[in-house]
Amino acid sequence: MQIAVVGSGYVGLVAAACFAELGHNVLCVDNDPQKLAALQRGEVPIHEKFLPELLARHRDINLTFSGSLSKAVKESSVIFIAVGTPASESGEADLSYVEAVAREIAESLDGYKVIVEKSTVPVYTSEWVRKVMLLTGGPECEFDVVSNPEFLREGTAVTDFLYPDRIVIGADTERAAKILKEIYQPLTSGRYYQSKEAVSEPDGAKIPPPLLLTSAKSAELIKHASNAFLAMKISFINAVASVCEAVDADIEEVAKGIGSDTRIGSRFLQAGVGYGGSCFPKDVAAFRSVARECGYDFTLLNEVMRINEDQRQRFLRKVRTALWTLKGKRLAILGLAFKGGTDDVRESPAISIIQSLLTEKCSIVAYDPAATERAKPLINGAITYAENPYDAVDGADALLILTDWDEFAGLDLERIRKLLRYPIVVDGRNLYRRKEMERHGLMYISVGRPASKLEELASKTQQQLSS
Ligand code: UDX
Ligand code: UDX
Repeated sequence: MQIAVVGSGYVGLVAAACFAELGHNVLCVDNDPQKLAALQRGEVPIHEKFLPELLARHRDINLTFSGSLSKAVKESSVIFIAVGTPASESGEADLSYVEAVAREIAESLDGYKVIVEKSTVPVYTSEWVRKVMLLTGGPECEFDVVSNPEFLREGTAVTDFLYPDRIVIGADTERAAKILKEIYQPLTSGRYYQSKEAVSEPDGAKIPPPLLLTSAKSAELIKHASNAFLAMKISFINAVASVCEAVDADIEEVAKGIGSDTRIGSRFLQAGVGYGGSCFPKDVAAFRSVARECGYDFTLLNEVMRINEDQRQRFLRKVRTALWTLKGKRLAILGLAFKGGTDDVRESPAISIIQSLLTEKCSIVAYDPAATERAKPLINGAITYAENPYDAVDGADALLILTDWDEFAGLDLERIRKLLRYPIVVDGRNLYRRKEMERHGLMYISVGRPASKLEELASKTQQQLSS
């Protein structure tokens, strides 16, 4: 199948590479000349496992990059729209890029095409795209608009695409549905998984994945409702963590206990500094906004957002309590990305916590294995960047852990204690257990679990020193 993908961001580039991996001929279009040139040079602008291999395997064979959308439309039978749908100030999705692309596609139509919404868009967008195209392209232009939302998590986007829990197709004509089924046939038939070069199978993959065929509106709602539910699940466990702190219970054990109920499930029950990223904050706000426009006031989502914002304030209070005064203190911060495994800092809790600490006149040394370059333009103030965790900790008054990178869960704690001026670790991701920290003389404060008591720690340290 000849496919065009418009937008080579986190979603568009992964989709283009994976469609090529399924054997289709793919033209990936972007209107950012720098990004396009980098892609044509063989560079990989985002941090995604397996993406470099797939781009190297297919570039200039059945995957090419172009700046001309009209050329791509003329040469393709299916055009995927994967341009950004950022949140506007009032929270609703900014669909101006989607509209601009829809107009440009309509002007280039030369025969029946299927236009597919890949970006996360509010319900009714497929109808708007249809109207815009009819008004632009005139009555003779023949096309269908389909919704095919993506469920890719950053850091695991390639395996999420090739080993999805389900493929959702929102099509309002049999003709369009048939074409989309054909595109995904290598997955739904299981054929892709038999090839020896297939990307390695993640644990618990559903092979072959089910394909859910529904209307365009239902498909658009499936996407928003999925993200809103996952965000709600995180805010729920963070709220339970706050109850745990009030009664000295342990959120990790509570999460294990509730998550072992198969109706709840153990994933997305990790308490922390709150969710971030280019999707959850934007999609929860956009879902609430479009629900209100359609006549339903989705107030539950207000609470999801409020709890999430409060989680960052609670973390800051923990830091102040641990350090007493913040002014002039030097803080070591591990983590800038919105989560481990990605270089993306969009809506990163780490960045907003750093901004708050800088306004309290702290000085900060930060380390992140992948996101430093993307974080620098966002952070204004007294911050320096270290090359590794230990350089960041050297001489600091406390260590703060803000992103759940695997490497932050395996630090040499003896060395950390020696490097810190005060033996204080405030962990926003619950990467350690308190006992393990206290064994190395470190005072440990985390989320939803009892914190080290200074007196206890002092007496333990005394015992250790005297023994
Ligand atoms: C975007 C949305 O933000 C997300 O909600 C949705 O689920 C998928 O699409 P992402 O891929 O991260 O996610 O977008 P972004 O990283 O902003 O990339 C969009 C790309 O489209 C950029 O490379 C931009 O240059 C390009 N673009 C944008 C076009 O080619 N044409 C346009 O008119 C606008
Ligand atoms: C999310 C959805 O998971 C994905 O299906 C959708 O297509 C895009 O949005 P993403 O934002 O890339 O993916 O990352 P995700 O792994 O969902 O994490 C989102 C945020 O929630 C991160 O800040 C992460 O640290 C946080 N999180 C996640 C928690 O705090 N606790 C958890 O248990 C899981």
